[in-house]
Amino acid sequence: MHIQWYPGHMHKASKEMRQALPNIDLIIEVLDARIPFSSQNPMLGQLRDDKPCIKILNKNDLADPLITQHWQDYFEREQYVKTLSVSNQHPETIQKIAGLCRKLLPEQIKSDKVIRAMIMGIPNVGKSTIINIVTGKMIAKTGNEPAVTKRQQRNDLCNNIILSDTPGVLWANLEHPNTGYRLAITGAIKDTAIAHDDVSFFAGEYLLKHYPDALQQRYQLENLPNNEAQLMEAIARKRGCIVSKNQIDWDKAAKILLTEFRAGKLGKITLETPDMMEKELDELIIIREKRAEKIAARKKRRHN
Ligand code: G4P
Repeated sequence: MHIQWYPGHMHKASKEMRQALPNIDLIIEVLDARIPFSSQNPMLGQLRDDKPCIKILNKNDLADPLITQHWQDYFEREQYVKTLSVSNQHPETIQKIAGLCRKLLPEQIKSDKVIRAMIMGIPNVGKSTIINIVTGKMIAKTGNEPAVTKRQQRNDLCNNIILSDTPGVLWANLEHPNTGYRLAITGAIKDTAIAHDDVSFFAGEYLLKHYPDALQQRYQLENLPNNEAQLMEAIARKRGCIVSKNQIDWDKAAKILLTEFRAGKLGKITLETPDMMEKELDELIIIREKRAEKIAARKKRRHN
């Protein structure tokens, strides 16, 4: 699956972010705890430089707690990075953000200077929900459609901390295909932009390997299917996704798996680990080399 999705306002947002960063003391990056790597903005690593950063692993009510801890340990290996695992089900976890801001910038607190923090995150990670909880106001718009345009806003987080919001920023190119699949599984990519059956097969393969018990329990499967096609067929039969002449309605079965995954009906599940990410970053080098070779060959053909 290859998705090119970079509407104009997102390009504008990334430009604005570049301009705003010099006046910012600290970055608060909101990630989806089920996909902490795929929900990152790849630009941020370069733009951040060594500015302190709090990585919020949001929606932890839906993620595997053990893997969330692995991700926190992994991220905190980087200098000036702290993490928080949170969810809107427990707003008190989100309220810890202000304390962590102070911990990261003790000098500023000592000298009574204002801390200017900027919160960012790709659409649908829960950024607006977090802003609403930390400011105690219904300020930012929340909604279930990724890529909803939002105005830049500034709020007092509490004494001496000013929080500014960025409009949703998404990457220009989802280079590794697995990133696109994982974003689609969690609902971060618009449902209209994806092929449900393709995405559900990817999800099915992963869940069979990493969370077989969750599948067996949810879909009352006596035996574990051997592969994702058999799994989707089993779900379709259990849930009556059959059209005439015993034909399987793959799309309906796919929507059932994806909807139930997103609602946490299969349990707390994480779709990627730091080890998987390291492997995929290595694969990316090969993908980029192949792309460069292709472009060079095309240029050469054009010149001949
Ligand atoms: P955004 O600003 O980053 O685009 O995200 P937003 O806050 O609008 O949240 C996107 C969706 O994620 C919302 O659901 C929101 O309720 C949900 N969400 C946010 N934080 C959490 C969390 O910690 N756990 C869970 N399970 N969900 C969370 P929605 O269905 O789009 O809207 P609504 O029906 O909740 O209003």
